[in-house]
Amino acid sequence: MTEKRMLTGDRPTGKLHLGHYVGSLANRVKLQDAYHCYFIIADLHMLTTKPSKEDVENIALNAREMVLDYLACGIDPEKSVIYLQSAVHEVYEMNLFFEMLVTVPRLQRVPSLKEMAKSAHLNEMPLGLLGYPVLQAADILMPRAHLVPVGKDNEAHVELTREIARRFNSMYGEVFPVPDVMVGEVPSLVGTDGNAKMSKSLGNAIYLSDDVKTVEKKVRGMYTDPKRVRADIPGTVEGNPVFIYHDIFNPDKEEVEDLKTRYRKGKVGDVEVKDKLTRAINNFLDPIRDRRQEYEKRSGYVDEVIFDGTMKMRKEAEQTLSAMKKAMGLSGAWNKISRKAEKARKKR
Ligand code: TRP
Repeated sequence: MTEKRMLTGDRPTGKLHLGHYVGSLANRVKLQDAYHCYFIIADLHMLTTKPSKEDVENIALNAREMVLDYLACGIDPEKSVIYLQSAVHEVYEMNLFFEMLVTVPRLQRVPSLKEMAKSAHLNEMPLGLLGYPVLQAADILMPRAHLVPVGKDNEAHVELTREIARRFNSMYGEVFPVPDVMVGEVPSLVGTDGNAKMSKSLGNAIYLSDDVKTVEKKVRGMYTDPKRVRADIPGTVEGNPVFIYHDIFNPDKEEVEDLKTRYRKGKVGDVEVKDKLTRAINNFLDPIRDRRQEYEKRSGYVDEVIFDGTMKMRKEAEQTLSAMKKAMGLSGAWNKISRKAEKARKKR
């Protein structure tokens, strides 16, 4: 194992979908031999838009589902640290220190935050949501990660992390590497309804844990070229979600080219195009489903993985926080005061 570290993760809001896979999961699996891997179950980030009691109650369940998806995709639990963010308390402290190094206007320019507020139906920006990327910087810098594989929507957050790392280092001394971002081959996957982004809240997602029949149903209902009311009308391939998916998930490139040619000429029915896509997606998901089942059978295993990972992360976090405080000279203030207090007490 090299000394290079990567950190990434997701909010525990439910099962992961194909968008997560192409945006970031595929990269994580690919990189896991080259990097020491940290995966965060970002429940504190979830609270920025979902702070209700009910949401909090669901964290454990959703965390398990999410980690099952990780393992199903091929993330090796032996090689990686998978941990629960809220159980590593150093992150709250790091977050506060980093808050001093970022301005409000800088955060107001982060585009994803406005979108998150909007889709959570929040009229005004909560302080915690504005600070979302600052907390994310604390996550990334906690194990002093060098690389952060994320989807397109998180790119700006990692940019801010880089700024914070540089700022900290120049103010207090070199403590952090300036991490690189890595965006997936398909930075943002179109939804089954043709919406630009596949997302749970839009109800346009195909989940990694969907069964064969569910995939078939979802693909049958997919948005395609709306002008093509009959099979003999020439259709548009470019930007058509069905063909975008074919390009990504169908390894039979000849079949895809043939379908495209016939589609453009009005010589193929939607049913054939979609049935072949269903088959491709199901072939892609089959090994993921199998692995998921294997892990599901081992009762309590996922919880052990998260528990062990969290314990490891706590150690790491302690070290980083103490290095930070030392660099800042903050431990010095407390040391001076406590030493003098002790002396004074002895004199009396
Ligand atoms: N912001 C990520 C998301 O969109 C979750 C996350 C939290 C994260 N902390 C992180 C991703 C650190 C990468 C690195 O759900």
